[in-house]
Amino acid sequence: MSATVPAASRFRWAPFAAGLLVLVLAYYFSVKRRISNDEADVPDGAYLALRQALLELDNATRFDRNTLQWTALERKANAYLHKLRLHEGAALEAVSRFPPALRFPDAKSVIEGTRLFDAIRRMPKGGSLHYHLEALVDQKWLVAAAANESNCHVSFEAETYRTFANPPTASVKLPRFKFTSQSLPSTEWVTCRSARERHPGGPAAFDLYAESVNSVIPNAYATEDIAWARFGMVFNMLGDLLHYQPLFERYIAQALQTFYDDGVTYLEVRISKWPNYDEHGRVVAFSEVLDSVKRIVDAFRTTHPDFIDLRFIYQDVRFNTPEGIQASLDTVISLRKSHPLQIVGFDLVGHEKATPLIDLVPLLTAGTRAAKHAKVTLDYFLHAGETLHAGPAPPDANLVDALLLGTRRIGHGFSLSKHAGLMSKVIASDIAVEVAVISNQMLGLVGDIRRHPVIDMMLHGVQVVLASDDPSVFGYEGVSYDFYQVYMAFEALDLGSLKKLAMNGIAYSALGGAESKARAMGGFERRWAEWVQELAAH
Ligand SMILES: *[C@@H]1O[C@H](CO)[C@@H](O)[C@H](O)[C@H]1NC(C)=O
Ligand SMILES: *[C@@H]1O[C@H](CO)[C@@H](O)[C@H](O)[C@H]1NC(C)=O
Ligand SMILES: [Zn+2]
Repeated sequence: MSATVPAASRFRWAPFAAGLLVLVLAYYFSVKRRISNDEADVPDGAYLALRQALLELDNATRFDRNTLQWTALERKANAYLHKLRLHEGAALEAVSRFPPALRFPDAKSVIEGTRLFDAIRRMPKGGSLHYHLEALVDQKWLVAAAANESNCHVSFEAETYRTFANPPTASVKLPRFKFTSQSLPSTEWVTCRSARERHPGGPAAFDLYAESVNSVIPNAYATEDIAWARFGMVFNMLGDLLHYQPLFERYIAQALQTFYDDGVTYLEVRISKWPNYDEHGRVVAFSEVLDSVKRIVDAFRTTHPDFIDLRFIYQDVRFNTPEGIQASLDTVISLRKSHPLQIVGFDLVGHEKATPLIDLVPLLTAGTRAAKHAKVTLDYFLHAGETLHAGPAPPDANLVDALLLGTRRIGHGFSLSKHAGLMSKVIASDIAVEVAVISNQMLGLVGDIRRHPVIDMMLHGVQVVLASDDPSVFGYEGVSYDFYQVYMAFEALDLGSLKKLAMNGIAYSALGGAESKARAMGGFERRWAEWVQELAAH
């Protein structure tokens, strides 16, 4: 019979029969092994125990260890956030719109379209501790509010600014603002009303122009130096607007509302010496300005009783002269006496390359001594290591000097994760690092936020607080986008991590005494419990 079967057909049967035999044998042996011992195709129990131990060892250093009790509600809330991150993250990644991978101006509207962002917007953020006064509130609001003042005047100056680059200077035409009912030289100044009307494209185009010169959004900068130069210029102009006391007061109220709506109930903001002028052209001294802020915060608290406070860290620019910095230290010491609850410490800001901390050590240690002599405490909250560079020179080396100078927190500390020894020191000294991932991206330190060293710090055990540094200059408000980007970028983070980040904003704040911190933490816990309940209901 077989002789009648065509050759081609016999040829096909052979591999089929062989394959079948292999499958049957494999099945037979696998069943046999499974019956005779339990280590068929999974690692054995001993291996799994070692594996678990190693995972636990890895976890043991985490910054958020044991933050949660993991109640049933917390588990459900965590699962909901986790599910959103997984599904929305994958869907956006599939169309090349994964938010942490995008430059923030492109990521913003993508983030706003997600349910994860809805959830994170409503999250209570506790305290947020790294801001600069000029950049707290939406530019659109500020420009509209300024133009709306009937005595608003504007002039346009070509401004030259230093770029530290080659060629070393660049030039741009900037609007300068002045608020006065007196007449100004009409060759230079026009009222904001007529400037807006005469602007090519009309008032709306003027507003857009004013907003855009106030921001660093349109450009990606080639170097840290260029970004810094552009950045400094923006602040000059914002200062013009905010030195008009009536506008300043509305701005502070607007900032409180903005951050409160974003879930922040305590704020620390860097402020430089800030005299204002009023509608009569009178100088409003800095101490009066502080008093006005206190009145605005008090009024805000009567309508928002769970808002804790807005406090200031007094700052000078690090490129000031030694005499200038000396004078600032004298000022902050006297402010610590006159406004101890509002002025909580001192910092130096601006491109860290300008003056390394090592050059300022004698001044700053003398400042500490002078404060002691004046019977006040003077804490430093120093920007340090806000750089891509790692090496013996500043800005990276500023981390070393900031630690030796006894800084209470580190501003940015972007380069810290490269130094295991310094990280250990930071952990042992219980110093928190103020991290602003979007700011770092906008100033060119990082592209994809998944490469941001904040995750290294957090998993290593460095306590981190999140902030947005200069949100209005980057085209946004609040700190929810930063929380979103960090949570979306790093799957190692969970609900406990978010809670720890928010709590750190209170724990590492300058709120005085255990009692006021405990009160702030109590208020936070109540809001947190509500949020968890809301998430768990999904
Ligand atoms: C490590 O920590 C993460 C985040 O809290 C948690 O999900 C995970 O179960 C932990 N793993 C171990 C082995 O403890
Ligand atoms: C503009 O001024 C009017 C009248 O003072 C006020 O009602 C309005 O809220 C102001 N608008 C803005 C954007 O400041
Ligand atoms: Zn800063």
